[in-house]
Amino acid sequence: MERVLSGMQPSGYLHIGNLVGALSNWVRLQDRYDCYYFVADWHALTTNYTNPSIIKEYTKDLLLNFLAAGLDPEKCTIFVQSQILEHAELHILLSMITPLGWLERVPTYKEKKEEIKELDIGSYGFLGYPVLQSADILIYRAKYVPVGIDQVPHLEITREIARRFNYLYKTDVLPEPEPLLTEFPKVTGLDGRKMSKSYDNAIYLNDPPEVVERKVLTMMTDTQRARRTDPGDPERSPVYQLHRIFSSKEELEEVAQGCRTASIGCIDCKRILLKNLFRVLEPLWQRRKELSDNPEKLREIVNAGIEKARRVAQETMELVRGVMSIY
Ligand code: TRP
Repeated sequence: MERVLSGMQPSGYLHIGNLVGALSNWVRLQDRYDCYYFVADWHALTTNYTNPSIIKEYTKDLLLNFLAAGLDPEKCTIFVQSQILEHAELHILLSMITPLGWLERVPTYKEKKEEIKELDIGSYGFLGYPVLQSADILIYRAKYVPVGIDQVPHLEITREIARRFNYLYKTDVLPEPEPLLTEFPKVTGLDGRKMSKSYDNAIYLNDPPEVVERKVLTMMTDTQRARRTDPGDPERSPVYQLHRIFSSKEELEEVAQGCRTASIGCIDCKRILLKNLFRVLEPLWQRRKELSDNPEKLREIVNAGIEKARRVAQETMELVRGVMSIY
């Protein structure tokens, strides 16, 4: 089976946007590929070095939710980046052959630097983010990397670094990976903007059912539909956008029609959404509870994943040290 690798930064608790975006896609891929999925905790340090303890908390949340969402440790390998020191070794070797100009022109570098004003991210580590990501990918000699469109520049630089490495050391030990681009539905947040932890408009996977219910019932709707008897426009309602993802075609049609004709109210519409949301979340909550009740089991699964990943990483490093004639 061809190898797939992907990682997620522990920079917040996972929400339903992450679930229907990346995570469900990872679950689908585990049947078709030899998948390696990891928590990129070193990457989270690049923007969170002032408060590293929270990264550990988010890392645990990610691991728990990876399994709760249906990643099966019999089918895929789950691990934590910082536990495989070989990533750091490959990172330093690759950093020797990576021109600064390549890093400075990565669009995410420029954007983030502008965006995050409250923190000094003019660090060496932050500039080198894509080199670390390249090491993450190349060390498993992965063929495919499932990512969102925002990560394509990082994949491009990974390919360039691999090409340069192979050219300089006249080898083929680092195959060029390809992005596996999947069209993710854009998940709307409680306030109508894109669901994001930074907007405080998310439904988190670890929200208890009462909180999910409260969040949905107090969600914004069509603000121009002032009274229950006024006809509304579903397109203006963030609730309708969530129906698009979680509800059946029939229900979608029913709530749209009901909204336009004022035959249903916003609360009725939200109740239908809640029913469908709960249908998706309940099995996840169930598995999460089983794992939380049995922390030993989670630790065992992750330790086994770490060991398996480490063996592959060590194999690659043998080859890399060989072609680079490292003492
Ligand atoms: N940069 C990725 C993100 O922010 C996370 C990541 C780190 C990653 N290393 C990776 C993704 C390797 C894919 C492969 O989403």
